[in-house]
Amino acid sequence: MKRNNDFNELLEESRQGEVLLLDDDKPHLRKLYLESYGCAMNFSDSEIVASIMNGNGFSTTNNIDEADVIFLNTCAIRDNAETKIWTRLRDFKSAKKNNPDLIIGVLGCMAERLKTKLLEEQKLVDLVVGPDAYRDLPNLIQIVESGQKAVNVLLSREETYAEISPVRLGGNGISAFISIMRGCDNMCSFCVVPFTRGRERSRDQESIVAEAKELINGGYKEVTLLGQNVDSYKWEGITFGNLLERVALVNPELRVRFSTSHPKDMTDDVLETMAKYDNICNYIHLPVQSGNSRVLEMMNRGYDRAWYINRIEAIRRILPGCGISTDTISGFCSETEEEHQDTLSLMEYVGYEFAYMYSYSERPGTLAARQYPDDIPAETKSRRLAEIIKLQLKLSMESNQKDLGKEHRVLVEAISKRSTEHLSGRNDQNKVVIFPKEEFKIGDYVTVLVNDCTSATLLGNAVKK
Ligand code: SAM
Ligand code: SF4
Ligand code: F3S
Repeated sequence: MKRNNDFNELLEESRQGEVLLLDDDKPHLRKLYLESYGCAMNFSDSEIVASIMNGNGFSTTNNIDEADVIFLNTCAIRDNAETKIWTRLRDFKSAKKNNPDLIIGVLGCMAERLKTKLLEEQKLVDLVVGPDAYRDLPNLIQIVESGQKAVNVLLSREETYAEISPVRLGGNGISAFISIMRGCDNMCSFCVVPFTRGRERSRDQESIVAEAKELINGGYKEVTLLGQNVDSYKWEGITFGNLLERVALVNPELRVRFSTSHPKDMTDDVLETMAKYDNICNYIHLPVQSGNSRVLEMMNRGYDRAWYINRIEAIRRILPGCGISTDTISGFCSETEEEHQDTLSLMEYVGYEFAYMYSYSERPGTLAARQYPDDIPAETKSRRLAEIIKLQLKLSMESNQKDLGKEHRVLVEAISKRSTEHLSGRNDQNKVVIFPKEEFKIGDYVTVLVNDCTSATLLGNAVKK
């Protein structure tokens, strides 16, 4: 995937290789080094993994040299996501040579996709564990310690890890993910997720609400409800709109976000619930993939261009000023130049705040790989992607310029990466806002008057009232 530097901060889904640390002072016998790749769901899963390992005598470390166990929680969404993991595994060769007892495990979506094939690579990997088998980790570690390789890639129709309290890793103590469902039943033709994460299942609403309460009591200020298609959440007659309302009612000071909405399932009642509660952020990630109806049909997305526009109009009507972002795929099988232009024109029409933009990467076993030739040359995919990125930079800049001179309520999340004298947070529409630190701190809600911007960031000063 090509990236533009200005967009790096926004490319959450492409977070890669972050080391996650458990911050506690319990005595632990052994050390786990856990590196996570891929989407928010995978990062959220790493917190479950750490919790399970923590309960079995492991603490986390960011020093690979002191690790007894190394886990890579992997992504398989595009070919380059997997290439990164193969490269990373080769880095561990010398560590394993120095310490033959070192256990190396591959977890997550790539583990699910490649299964025992991962064990063959230079005889480096000891453990392969799919996303639904993390409860089995302590047992699998024991198998490895007895001198065998261990694999569990069974997918489940029930597992939601509902009652496992995730340990919050590497976060800021302010924003946390809450996984509300797992798997996906949509079978978009390009996508590997239904194969790596199995059937869709929703998590018990009570355990979700309890987790949100626990978080606010622990000082958190923001939760993001996670699922591959949150709009199809269903638990004993409770819809996503109902769940969103329940979480919003936990505390008016708790900001509520969610991801990802699916255009075919996003209903007006969710938008109306968003309009009803100030603490549900005015921001929707609504992946379009393509602006052309024939391509959407081939992608098996379950909507066409007109339906997508209808959903955008509903957002504009019910939630004026709502931030909207999207995902696009360039160069899907047989996409013509005119069809690519349809994606650009739809992007112009919507005026997205930002976008995650990819070129099509064929994934073995998917419907598209079985049915359609991957026939768009790499240069054409890259050129189309570059055109999409260029347009999105312009749209993001235009959107940010509209925010100049306005006050924004910002939840402070971090010290700015560019200067220790500045803080960074996000406004309601999920835009990054940077302003001088003064007396403010992480976790504060600050009103910021925006007076400058780039295509990726709003800049301003705190307004004291
Ligand atoms: N469930 C979400 C949805 O349907 O919008 C997102 C799932 S996926 C983790 C995130 C994004 O990766 C997709 O929206 C799509 O744009 C992109 N993606 C998935 N498979 C891809 C592929 N084979 N090649 C390129 N991009 C892909
Ligand atoms: Fe993949 Fe489609 Fe499911 Fe999203 S909705 S995870 S793109 S199959
Ligand atoms: Fe996420 Fe990658 Fe799996 S995007 S669901 S970690 S294939």
